[in-house]
Amino acid sequence: MRIFSGIQPTGEKHLGNYIGAIRQYVEGQDRADPAIYCIVDLHAITVAFDPEELRKRLYDTTAILLASGLDPERCVLFRQSDVHEHTELCWLLAGVCAHGDLNRMHQFKEKSERQRELVSAGLFFYPVLQAADVLAYRADEVPVGEDQRQHIELMREIARRFNERFGEVLVVPEHRIPATGAKVMDLQEPERKMSTTVGADSGRVYLLDEPDAIRSKFGSAVTDSGREILRAPDKAGISNMIGILAVATDRSEQEVEAEFAEAGYGDFKKAVAEAVVEYLRPVREAYPAIREDEKNLERILATGAGRAREMASQTLGDVRAAMGVGVPPSG
Ligand code: AMP
Ligand code: TRP
Repeated sequence: MRIFSGIQPTGEKHLGNYIGAIRQYVEGQDRADPAIYCIVDLHAITVAFDPEELRKRLYDTTAILLASGLDPERCVLFRQSDVHEHTELCWLLAGVCAHGDLNRMHQFKEKSERQRELVSAGLFFYPVLQAADVLAYRADEVPVGEDQRQHIELMREIARRFNERFGEVLVVPEHRIPATGAKVMDLQEPERKMSTTVGADSGRVYLLDEPDAIRSKFGSAVTDSGREILRAPDKAGISNMIGILAVATDRSEQEVEAEFAEAGYGDFKKAVAEAVVEYLRPVREAYPAIREDEKNLERILATGAGRAREMASQTLGDVRAAMGVGVPPSG
């Protein structure tokens, strides 16, 4: 069974990324053969970016993943742009991807509305490259947060359409979206997901935030005018923190609700903050030494790219042959 997921090298990673995605990557390492994780720098260039910043962020994100527990001996960790097969497959798949489907992508609509200068063609094409990322490895399972559901649906459709037209070459992957924490909400605007780019810093908890920053962000988290600590549609802030506390302390949301049945919001928020301080401690403490050694990061990424290329080039050979592209296969 193969697992594949991608993560952008943009901004600083936050609690939503960790709970929705990164903790699943770590868990997948020992279940999959292999688990493949890709830092998607080619996706990051579809919105405004700075080249120097991009390099720096790529190392930041690599170090975050390693500090979170990805082990290069137990998974394949690499940089997307090092494996040219992704971009080639992207183009080949474009032939079976409907323009109308791309037009329906929520993320494209949201991101294109936010662009001040240029809505790039790359932004429109983003989901095709994402499909190529996964399909190049014939991955079975894709761990992601809720916001990626539509992109996974599209890649399934692309794989099905390819196989119908050219024969059974690609694997139709399944998403793996966690039952709790698939959509961590912003602490200041709990009707909206926690995001790297939208909203104030006080609404998102960075994985590298110091304990006092974490305490102050939860301390000022928006709740509601009631007093019950229960999940409910009109209690977005409290519901969000119940989910966060459940994940951080490895309990169910029901157990959290039961424990805090008699508590006030103030005490509850303090408990969530302390749990998150502890939950993120290993990442926060391991990060600086890992980030500092850029040579080691490059070495890990290069090894990962070598292993990734081996797998992806086999798929590309089959795709090209099935499509009648390039030199005919011998024999
Ligand atoms: P990105 O940083 O956009 O590449 O996202 C990396 C992963 O984090 C993806 O699998 C997203 O689905 C997931 N993710 C992003 N924001 C959230 C959130 N607020 N809650 C849960 N998962 C998230
Ligand atoms: N679009 C994903 C995000 O924003 C990142 C991504 C790129 C990805 N390629 C992928 C996720 C392949 C899963 C599989 O989070």
